[in-house]
Amino acid sequence: MRLENKVTLITGAGSGIGKSSALLFGREGAYVIVNDLDATKGAETAAEIIANGGKALFLQADVTDPESVKQMVDTAIETCGRIDVLFNNAGISGVGALHELEPEQWDRVIRVNIRGVFLPSKYVLPHMMEQRSGSIINMSSCVAEIGLARRASYSATKGAVLALTKSMQVDYASYQIRVNALLPGTILTPFVENYLKTSYDDPEAAIASLKSRQLSQDLGTPEDVAAAALFLASDDSKFMMGSPLYIDGGAVFGKNA
Ligand SMILES: NC(=O)c1ccc[n+]([C@@H]2O[C@H](COP(=O)([O-])OP(=O)(O)OC[C@H]3O[C@@H](n4cnc5c(N)ncnc54)[C@H](O)[C@@H]3O)[C@@H](O)[C@H]2O)c1
Repeated sequence: MRLENKVTLITGAGSGIGKSSALLFGREGAYVIVNDLDATKGAETAAEIIANGGKALFLQADVTDPESVKQMVDTAIETCGRIDVLFNNAGISGVGALHELEPEQWDRVIRVNIRGVFLPSKYVLPHMMEQRSGSIINMSSCVAEIGLARRASYSATKGAVLALTKSMQVDYASYQIRVNALLPGTILTPFVENYLKTSYDDPEAAIASLKSRQLSQDLGTPEDVAAAALFLASDDSKFMMGSPLYIDGGAVFGKNA
């Protein structure tokens, strides 16, 4: 029970990594505020936590919309009185080399993946500052560190999230708030399944090439990333501040050839 008595808010928790993290946090004793844009999927995650004997509340909000995010945080505080952990997980993919992208495609990825970290943090931080405690986990990616083909907009956002994490850590360290980033490699989630279908003629060949990029020779699972998120959420990581945590099967620091 590593999150006993902790209130955790996870954005984009209706699917993939966010959902696995929500289920794990629930099993570890947290009160889990499940956020997603998709009301059906978000409500399912919350229902599953409760069915497993945990505590959860689904709050629908679009992480790019200030009114909707403020309302979500206000409701969370009215219900639970505090927020101990904010996991800024919601994000979307963006495929294309820079010259192929329309300005609207670029703006959409930037909006969800960067503004979607800014806004929940903006409204949760004053409560953590008052509590003088908190852990914020920002979802970056190993593409913040390595160049990957046709990920111009997406890698720009994940690099920005990593830089933002370090900057936030400096500003809030004196309030005993920790801010760290997760850098996953390729994890098999609906996000990746969809990207494989829409971006490659032969998804099977694409998955083989994605696997070979990682020293593990396999893709990660949402549970692999959830375990790392649990570490950053819990007091076990109390000496980690402003750090990137890689969960990438060796994609960043290893080379296969
Ligand atoms: N899957 C990977 O290989 C991988 C690797 C590195 C980083 N990531 C990052 O991990 C995070 C989660 O990815 P995933 O693979 O679990 O994706 P996913 O598509 O399975 O889940 C993302 C969830 O975010 C929600 N969402 C999207 N836009 C939203 C918005 N505006 N407001 C609220 N919710 C919104 C979606 O409805 C969805 O339920 C993303 O930030 C992604 O960039 C994923």
